Amino acid sequence: MATFATRAARRTLESSVGMNQPDRQKIAAALGSVRDRTLELISCLSEDALSRQHDPLMSPIIWDLGHIGAFEELWLVRRLGSVSSESELDAVYDAFRTPRSERGGLDLAAAERVVEQLRDVRQEALRRLADVEFDVANPLLRDGFAYEMVREHEAQHQETVLQTIMLMTSETYMPTSRRGLPSRGRASAGEMIRVPAGPFHMGAASIGFAYDNERPRHVRNVDEFEIGRYPVTNAEYVEFVASGGYQDRRLWSETGWSWKEEAAVSTPMYWEAQEPSDVDPVRLSRERGTDGWQRRTALGVEALDPAVPVIHVSCHEAEAYARFASARLPTESEWEKAAAWDADSESPRTYPWGEEPDGTRRANLDQLVFGPAPIGSFPEGRSSVGCEQLLGDVWEWTASEFTEYSGFESFPYREYSEVFFGPDYRVLRGSSWATRPEASRNSFRNWDYPIRRQIFAGIRIARDVR
Ligand code: AVJ
Ligand code: FE
Repeated sequence: MATFATRAARRTLESSVGMNQPDRQKIAAALGSVRDRTLELISCLSEDALSRQHDPLMSPIIWDLGHIGAFEELWLVRRLGSVSSESELDAVYDAFRTPRSERGGLDLAAAERVVEQLRDVRQEALRRLADVEFDVANPLLRDGFAYEMVREHEAQHQETVLQTIMLMTSETYMPTSRRGLPSRGRASAGEMIRVPAGPFHMGAASIGFAYDNERPRHVRNVDEFEIGRYPVTNAEYVEFVASGGYQDRRLWSETGWSWKEEAAVSTPMYWEAQEPSDVDPVRLSRERGTDGWQRRTALGVEALDPAVPVIHVSCHEAEAYARFASARLPTESEWEKAAAWDADSESPRTYPWGEEPDGTRRANLDQLVFGPAPIGSFPEGRSSVGCEQLLGDVWEWTASEFTEYSGFESFPYREYSEVFFGPDYRVLRGSSWATRPEASRNSFRNWDYPIRRQIFAGIRIARDVR
């Protein structure tokens, strides 16, 4: 244990010496590419689709757009300059001043005007970038922190917009580009992987960009456990439905059961019976399995693929499924150990496969597939212990509440993480098909209420080993 800690300390030291000056051109290009995607995602939507509040859970899409610009203006223009005055945009696009449910009532500018504002803010931000001093003593600028934060923030709102697009019923979404899946590999659902007991390093290193909630990196100990090689598939989940899982009180937590009763839920969100019918979901699942069902996606209705990870389940459903499978949800420490820890080099990896960013070959991450990929599609994306599809496809609910790591320091604003810490939120790990690669890494922590299902969330199970 002493050698482990010493070696770790040396590594941390070594990795902080070769720090280089951020590259202005690369920053500008990275901001440009995230913006291209934002505009591409919305380019096929009508003014009505952009300005309407499609669901009380989501903002009108133009609010997300305006908010992307307001955030950029705050961090890349005002906070990096000497101007500290309130902007006229603050009031409208501050997430805390107007909760999502009320954003439909805001008097928002027309889409064309909002896109103009985005362009103006970007122009101003790039002007500052041209002569900004990357002062290592300024934490907002060290390693280009603020620029990366703004880039990831925009990428995260793209995922939010995709949730909204899924809920939109007023028109069909016809994206300008899509991508097919890689050819599917062989995989057997339900396979479990054993992860030996022992300490590992959890969280993001202190250099480079990470959100405050991913820090500080620290040593954690977890007991031996088993974790799914793949996320739970539709075929596995339909068995839960078929065996009356939704009616079996013993599989549900107390809050989970009351939620399920009240919300009258009996399948994942967006599942529809194949035949226009009011058949009992249990009977349909028992008689026809996944063949009895189809799934509504942003692009229309498709057959429910048995090999594809189940998506759009709440944390309560995830927990009930896990209990049905004589398992449980992984803690976020277990999840991160299975995803990141390389026992041979005694160091954590940034991505399950290593250090190289990738959103297409080793993970389904780039928002253009419009759904999760069958298990076995990304063998090269496996982690050191052999888990696959940890990033991309579906976010994975964990057993952990969203709380701060010991030594947490809020940065650069309390409203990103700190105000959400506590028992109300559950942590989700990984990322989904709707996440951009730049906002996806092993240490990334997402959180939401355990009842939410419009997010791109699925299940990976874990078990104790005795
Ligand atoms: C990390 C997805 C929970 O959408 O509330 C966007 C991301 N924070 N703008 C959210 C976020 C500020 C955040 N989640
Ligand atoms: Fe935001």
